[in-house]
Amino acid sequence: MPRIFKNEAALTPEYIPSKLPYREEQLKELETYFSGFLENPGSMYPKVILIGRPGSGKTVTSRKFGNYVMQSSKVVRYVHVSCFLNRTLISVLKDVGLQLNIPVPKRGFSTEEMLKILLDVVKEKNIYAIITLDDVFHLVNNSGPHALGTLIRLGEEYVSRGDKYRFGIVLISQDLTFRDQLDRSSQSSLGNAIIRFEPYTKDQIFEILLSRAQEALMDGAYDEEILEMIADVAGVDEWQSNDHRGDARYAIDILWRSAKIAEMRGSDRILPEHVREAIKNTLRGIRSEELRMLPLHEKIFLLAIVRSLMKNPNSPYIPFGTAENEYQILCEQYNEEPRKHTQLWEYLKDLNMKGFVETRTSSKGMRGRTTLISIPSEPLATLEEELRKIIGGELGT
Ligand SMILES: Nc1ncnc2c1ncn2[C@@H]1O[C@H](COP(=O)(O)OP(=O)(O)OP(=O)(O)O)[C@@H](O)[C@H]1O
Ligand SMILES: [Mg+2]
Repeated sequence: MPRIFKNEAALTPEYIPSKLPYREEQLKELETYFSGFLENPGSMYPKVILIGRPGSGKTVTSRKFGNYVMQSSKVVRYVHVSCFLNRTLISVLKDVGLQLNIPVPKRGFSTEEMLKILLDVVKEKNIYAIITLDDVFHLVNNSGPHALGTLIRLGEEYVSRGDKYRFGIVLISQDLTFRDQLDRSSQSSLGNAIIRFEPYTKDQIFEILLSRAQEALMDGAYDEEILEMIADVAGVDEWQSNDHRGDARYAIDILWRSAKIAEMRGSDRILPEHVREAIKNTLRGIRSEELRMLPLHEKIFLLAIVRSLMKNPNSPYIPFGTAENEYQILCEQYNEEPRKHTQLWEYLKDLNMKGFVETRTSSKGMRGRTTLISIPSEPLATLEEELRKIIGGELGT
């Protein structure tokens, strides 16, 4: 059986890749904020906030930073706590304790007692740690702002105990609403060190997919065009703001599913149709009510795009001109007066904006710049059938 995967684990969500394209700067910033703490543990109490949309690389970057901490300091440890899993202060404290190999009582202790045990042991054993609270808004939403406020103001606690600063803190969230809920003194103690993670663009998603594919897949199992096709649906662009856009997790998930489908079909490489199917299983898909609401000729033009792509199964893209020719042929068949070139451009823009098609401008190979069109999100045969039904119904043929 042909092999698709070289190392399937490299496409799982927990995997920490060797390279993190486009996050070098954020990683550097983290290192810089904590350099004083790492060089001279106990001298300060750094607190940093990481903000960004889902899939923008916050978790993986902080874990990578954790590896750096472990390598660069013999003394300071790194602790990563998921507040999705630990939504109360006591549960966060227990997890911190576990990760620091501090024996924590299983039950029967209050949050205050738990905190006291933790602080006593870190002092006694001379432990320093950088603690990341991932998706910290879950903690605030579930347990109220006071839980987080307690952690943020631990600095005062150390001082009153005559101890050094034991922890540095990284808070990860999708936005800053958790901070607004804190009381004023916690807010001011938290400070303003914010590292932002912008949603990834198509080109960035492509590079990320490429680096992950190189680790996970056999060399011959994918073309760069396949990765571009996925990047088109997952990356942000000017025309659209979709919830999934800019999300590397979504992109990697599609790649993994596509590879799985290719493997199941006994194919030796991922084909555009495998990607379409993977996307269909992953997200939105095209809804037929939305198809029905398109103007008649926009539907015919979309059908032309579908048919052109079907005639060309080895490439995910067709040039605009090919779709235009196919559109003329279809108009003849339907006995309809074809719309003008400029109108077709308007249709294309609309189809792209609504997420039915993806476009990119080619710069390689062909003379001049050509607009290339693809439909990554739906198996073509299903889409063709649906469009034919709707158009036929509308024209009474
Ligand atoms: N620059 C990158 N290079 C390679 N892989 C990346 C990069 N950014 C993100 N990823 C991968 O994308 C997936 C999602 O990233 P991550 O979990 O860090 O997102 P997040 O910002 O924490 O999202 P959420 O807010 O939903 O938790 C992970 O599998 C991660 O390894
Ligand atoms: Mg995360």
